Amino acid sequence: MTQRETENLTPEMTPKSAMNHDIGKGRGVYISTYGCQMNVNDSERMYSLLEMVNFAPVSTLEEASIIIINSCSIREKAVHKVYSEVGTFQKLKKKNPELLIGVGGCVGQQEKEKLMKNHPLIDFVFGTDAIDELPEILNKVLTKTTKDKVVSAQFKHKQPYHVDTLVRNPGVSTFVNITKGCDNFCSFCVVPFTRGREKSRPVSHIMTDIHTLVARGVKEVTLLGQNVNSYEGDAGFDFADLLKKVAVETGVERLRYTTSHPKDFNEKLMHVIRDHQDKICEYVHLPFQSGNTRILEKMNRGYTREEYVEKINLIKKLIPGAVFSTDIIVGFPGETEAEFQDTVSLVEEIGFETIFAFKYSPRPNTKAALMPDHLEESVKSERLNRLFDVHEKMAFERVKIYEGQTLQVLVEKLESGGGKLSGRTPTNKIVYFEGPGSLIGQTVPVKITRAMPSVFRGEVAIQ
Ligand code: SAH
Ligand code: SF4
Ligand code: F3S
Repeated sequence: MTQRETENLTPEMTPKSAMNHDIGKGRGVYISTYGCQMNVNDSERMYSLLEMVNFAPVSTLEEASIIIINSCSIREKAVHKVYSEVGTFQKLKKKNPELLIGVGGCVGQQEKEKLMKNHPLIDFVFGTDAIDELPEILNKVLTKTTKDKVVSAQFKHKQPYHVDTLVRNPGVSTFVNITKGCDNFCSFCVVPFTRGREKSRPVSHIMTDIHTLVARGVKEVTLLGQNVNSYEGDAGFDFADLLKKVAVETGVERLRYTTSHPKDFNEKLMHVIRDHQDKICEYVHLPFQSGNTRILEKMNRGYTREEYVEKINLIKKLIPGAVFSTDIIVGFPGETEAEFQDTVSLVEEIGFETIFAFKYSPRPNTKAALMPDHLEESVKSERLNRLFDVHEKMAFERVKIYEGQTLQVLVEKLESGGGKLSGRTPTNKIVYFEGPGSLIGQTVPVKITRAMPSVFRGEVAIQ
């Protein structure tokens, strides 16, 4: 964000404390980001906050005076990955002893000071509730007002969820946080421990953010949370109400949301999506995790296979053209071959065009990690491969129907190398086609010439 742009922001969007605004002068910041969109968006907020105290975002490690790893803990070897990345910075630190290395994100939250005890190269650690403190943390580390290295990884359970969407250059499409944390405690999942209790942002803050982003040229907004559809605003204002309000009252052209939980995807929400389909994309990402009810129960997901199928059928009926994707875990403790087959058959039955499937990985603090009958790695890998094989075959067939169709593509960027533009359809398919950079930010009809499960090629259709 440039100086002029920061002047135009609402008071809510200025740095949290009046501190030395020059601490960043002459210092470059590099953030290495892992994990979900929440982390991607958090990294953008970190860059924005640091720019306000004059740090300069840089695109190579060599240019950096500060390196931050924004870490993810969702699957295996998360802590190990942080240590091995920090290890690769050894040479840089030798060249530049002033170089500071910090760890934020979900591993920072989970491990806290342990990280620094185990790896002397790490100078500061901050948790998922401490992003807004980052300028102060760096101020402390740089001015050495504290002899110790700095750790800030306590949850702020009692504080309301007030964040600013300080997106540097928001581009055509961006995220807006609406909830943080998760109270669902699926038995396999580390998120409730790394992001804390679920909190919702006030409606007025979300609306201010979106109005500001639209004024800055954003066309598409994705409402973001670990479990967006359990959003709770004031006085019973729920996620469906929020989606409708954003669709009706803001100038945003396309509206998406992620991630939604099947148990909270109610009929009211389906009606809102259908009634505002001009803006709300008919792409429904609804993780089912397992197609077998016994495993779902052990996962603490709060629905059966039958209830999930019923919900999808209702969405298909109420939202014309709805396209589905899902998340799946294979090899949950005790999963039998027959139970795994229930997952395969559900993928086929629903006809998912896109799946995100993972091998079960035991996580710290979770109930599933303590369950008996963990499967061999080789069994999990073999099941995952079989699932991908079945899905790929089905998806390649299914998406052929798009060949020859003309779809509305919101153009997002010019690919490196030039010449090719890329954008997405409302159903979240990436489309590559030739055209001038002036089309960026516009919605263009594109005739699909080649369709693969998540990537299409096409050409601008003559109107
Ligand atoms: N809140 C979202 C999921 C966030 S995590 C939801 O409830 O759907 C993203 C995905 O990672 C999950 O949907 C799940 O498929 C996968 N995942 C989470 N914990 C995992 C674990 N311990 N092992 C393997 N995959 C996991
Ligand atoms: Fe994890 Fe379940 Fe919460 Fe999703 S809903 S973040 S899988 S605990
Ligand atoms: Fe990873 Fe934390 Fe997101 S564990 S998936 S970065 S919420």
